[in-house]
Amino acid sequence: MKKITQILVLLIAVFSNAQKFENLAQTPPQGWNSWNTFGTDINETLVKGIADKFIELGLKDAGYQYIVLDDGWMAKERDGNGNLVADPEKFPNGMKHLADYIHSKGLKFGLYNCAGATTCAGYPGSRGHEYQDAQTYASWDIDYLKYDWCDTGKINAESAYTTMRDALYKAGRPVVFSICEWGDNEPWKWAKDVGHLWRVTGDIINCWDCEVGHGSWSSSGVWKIINMRKEIRKSAGPGHWNDFDMMEVGNGMTNAEDRSHFAMWSMLASPLIMGNDLRTASKETIKTLSNKEVINVNQDKLGIQGFRFTNENNMEIWIKPLDNNQWALTFVNMSNHPLDFVFDWKNHDIGDDVNGRYVDMIKNTFQIRDLFNHKNLGDTSTNLKARIEPHDVLMVTLNK
Ligand code: GLA
Repeated sequence: MKKITQILVLLIAVFSNAQKFENLAQTPPQGWNSWNTFGTDINETLVKGIADKFIELGLKDAGYQYIVLDDGWMAKERDGNGNLVADPEKFPNGMKHLADYIHSKGLKFGLYNCAGATTCAGYPGSRGHEYQDAQTYASWDIDYLKYDWCDTGKINAESAYTTMRDALYKAGRPVVFSICEWGDNEPWKWAKDVGHLWRVTGDIINCWDCEVGHGSWSSSGVWKIINMRKEIRKSAGPGHWNDFDMMEVGNGMTNAEDRSHFAMWSMLASPLIMGNDLRTASKETIKTLSNKEVINVNQDKLGIQGFRFTNENNMEIWIKPLDNNQWALTFVNMSNHPLDFVFDWKNHDIGDDVNGRYVDMIKNTFQIRDLFNHKNLGDTSTNLKARIEPHDVLMVTLNK
């Protein structure tokens, strides 16, 4: 009898803790992650500098809140009690100190680990230590966990991620749970109640459309990533997002390509996780990353992932239904030369079959707002005429 009572008490505690996780990512998470630029070369001074820049550059005001340390933050060995410890040279004051610093700026703090025995860079993974590690994160006041998939042998992804989720529930501190198994086990089919976001592809790299091999795996440029998955948009929505990986804005593509990349992550309702060095970022990069009009499309409360409408004559056209019967449209010039085009609104049926949203463009007239140039472009009673530079974008919303 005593045992049954204990189990019941535990179940009730876990259930009420689980509720605390429900509303953590009603819109796609916005933040910064160390991996794309720094790899394992991370330390306390860098992270504090990034947190300061969130405030100084207006990124916090633009909605970014999570600062996430990726692989390489740990010491190579657990301590004598099996606890994870921060690398004492990189983080001499430990993780709680860093969490306090980040929280003092009104921001949130995330860490990385892995479902396997070791992380992708060879540090201690969480396999067999899930409940212990979740307690450690709670004791450090961690708000976000990115959980990777290296060194996992034959374990089942759904159960491995569910174990970590339950461990986080039990520890009780609300944590955004970011699943990173690269889409290998189709998380869009099972992860809705396990994590808040799940990677849908392998790693991104800072190019428009390239693929770079690393032996047994390869990284993909922005458009390779976008084109890799079909038919998964219906799985995204408030609380559970398709994650197209951390952004490469500011990491070497042209400003036009960066704008298109940022526009597309917003159209896809992907988490907006910056991956550049904010301490040295150019004005143009920050202008793109903090463009509130574009971010509003990403953060739209319906949480509908956009879709490709057409891709003809070197022009990709994407559509995303928005709250209040508004729509976002993005025109991307895929070619290497400027593109002059005319778009006849009356000849295009704007609609989204998956979500049953349609608009009769003959009976309805919308105001057109250009989100990168911050200006109104008239309305849909006349054809849209525009020139788009190579790999650049025209992103608009249609408003009544
Ligand atoms: C994997 C992930 C990356 C990054 C590295 C760290 O490749 O997909 O995003 O976390 O591991 O080693």
